[in-house]
Amino acid sequence: MTSRERFLSACACTALERPPLWVMRQAGRYLPEYRALKAKSSFLEMVRTPALAAEVTLQPLQRFSGLDAAILFSDILVIPEALGQGYRFRDEGGIAMEFRLETRAQVDALTPTAAVPDRLRYVADTLALLKKQLGGQKALLGFGGSPWTLATYMVEGGSSDEFERIKLLFYTDRALFDALLEKLTAALIAYFQMQIRAGADAIQIFDSWGGIIAGADYEAASLKWIRQIIAALPREFPIIIYAKGTAPHVTDQAFAGARVVSVDWTSDLAIVRRSLPANVAVQGNLDPVLLNTTPAIVRHETTRLLESMRGLPGHIFNLGHGILPQAKLECMEALVGTVTGWK
Ligand code: CP3
Repeated sequence: MTSRERFLSACACTALERPPLWVMRQAGRYLPEYRALKAKSSFLEMVRTPALAAEVTLQPLQRFSGLDAAILFSDILVIPEALGQGYRFRDEGGIAMEFRLETRAQVDALTPTAAVPDRLRYVADTLALLKKQLGGQKALLGFGGSPWTLATYMVEGGSSDEFERIKLLFYTDRALFDALLEKLTAALIAYFQMQIRAGADAIQIFDSWGGIIAGADYEAASLKWIRQIIAALPREFPIIIYAKGTAPHVTDQAFAGARVVSVDWTSDLAIVRRSLPANVAVQGNLDPVLLNTTPAIVRHETTRLLESMRGLPGHIFNLGHGILPQAKLECMEALVGTVTGWK
């Protein structure tokens, strides 16, 4: 069985000898070969140059041959950028958007949806290149942010601690909030359709900030828009919803049309698995900080998670959030070895 088949079988909740494995932020600063490339080109240059983006995407697979999926090297913020609001990384860490989205006029001035796929054509080119390079052996994952998570960056003007502006917008001017989220939803539908045409085997929607809105408002702020996106994509196409801090909403997420629900490390994955419909797979959920410890600890915790899921089909092994720049290569090796060697 190829890695690609293993991955797609897990999405379809078929029983497997071992779960497929990939990790979020699979390529990144913890890899010396990534840092070497980044010394020559900026992050944005790498993202926008298909040959470079494909090279970075494949770096972790070349180093850790047991990984089953390649995740496109890009960022969720290419969508705000394509809509006319650029971004950069602050020297002290975090994101800075070019400006803050505050007024109706600014929302109206965002680039029309029809132009989005053209502006992001380099993503389709990267996926097409990867599809060829992977030769059907590994699964190829596309991704994007959820409308809500992208709106937090656009309205806050970058990374945020309190998310006060986006919440004020949500509670005080729902019409403007909805207008922004409608634009994002339409742009993401066009973007994902393009990724699927370009050869993605699955798409992960990152609702990284889904957990910051009051529980009773999660539907109106975030899940409703994700559901609209999934409904507009091909019926059986594997969509993975990842959200952080949304454990109380996992059942609602499972009924939003996704084939896979990806959960953060705070949930007991076996309990989540047993609580969801049998045709919805789960992905997760090792604490990423474990990769900053020791190989022995990683082996122990990985085995514990695998054992807890024994006999439960529909599991994709992953971290509960992105790998950290401080992750140790020997810990990542221990993770890959433990999952691929598991019986
Ligand atoms: O998983 C992968 O390997 C694919 C690539 C990927 C990146 N970003 C590359 C990246 C993916 C899937 C993302 C998604 C993303 N980007 C999310 C959602 C997932 C999550 O982590 O919750 C978010 C919120 C972003 C926005 C973003 N981009 C942040 C908050 C940061 C960190 C900024 C900082 O202070 O370090 C980034 C940068 C980023 N995106 C890096 C990578 C490899 C690090 C860039 C570098 O310094 O080299």
